[in-house]
Amino acid sequence: MRRYWDKKARENAMYYIQSELDYAHVDRNEFWASGDDSLARTLSPFDLSVQPTDEVVDIGCGIGRTTRALATKARHVIGVDVSLEMVERGRKELADLGNVELLLGNGRDLSGIGDASVDVVYSFIVFQHIPDPAITCEYIQEIGRVLRPGGWTVFQVSELPEIHHREMWRGSESVRTRAMRLLGRAPRGTLAPEWLGSALSHDQLVGALDDAGLVLAASVGEGSQFCLVHARRPL
Ligand SMILES: C[S@@+](CC[C@H](N)C(=O)[O-])C[C@H]1O[C@@H](n2cnc3c(N)ncnc32)[C@H](O)[C@@H]1O
Repeated sequence: MRRYWDKKARENAMYYIQSELDYAHVDRNEFWASGDDSLARTLSPFDLSVQPTDEVVDIGCGIGRTTRALATKARHVIGVDVSLEMVERGRKELADLGNVELLLGNGRDLSGIGDASVDVVYSFIVFQHIPDPAITCEYIQEIGRVLRPGGWTVFQVSELPEIHHREMWRGSESVRTRAMRLLGRAPRGTLAPEWLGSALSHDQLVGALDDAGLVLAASVGEGSQFCLVHARRPL
């Protein structure tokens, strides 16, 4: 995963983080504005907001798109990412913020973050890219470990297995896109397992939350790629 995401960071970090952008003409302002938008859209279904006293963790922070949005609201944010290239770019991008720390993670847990030390754990469009759902379950276990009693999490997970199969996408590309790729003007490597990722079934999700000592408060988009989960660590 590190090798893949390091390569994507060097190729076009903003595009691979927010793939609705134009690959050949990435608009920085659009990229950063999309972080505020993603945060608002993922918290509003649960009527949640980050508080000025909150210590927050952003799993799979990339170069800090959502981390920046979280940092404008929280006391302190720790972003964790498997890619050193993403983390290094993120540190430069967020250098103007005094309340953010970006950590290089090992791709499967939240080592370096203490037990019961954070108020909020957030993650968006990360678990859907992890090829092995057992790793996503490990992260859920880790969310339970680092949250203080009464703390909450919102994360996105895919519950749509078919979109993670190579066969679904192979051959679906136009000749124009293939030509653009040869010219370096279209994305590469989107059939790799590290991009295609994996889904969890709703039962797997509920089991992982339970094992982590987390209580599912609500979820939206069940059965879709964008299943948003809100869970709490009980007091
Ligand atoms: C599509 S980007 C999303 C970045 C950020 N969450 C956002 O919404 O702006 C996916 C990010 O997850 C990171 N990532 C992929 N697999 C990971 C893993 N196993 N552990 C931690 N980060 C991972 C990648 O390096 C990349 O920065």
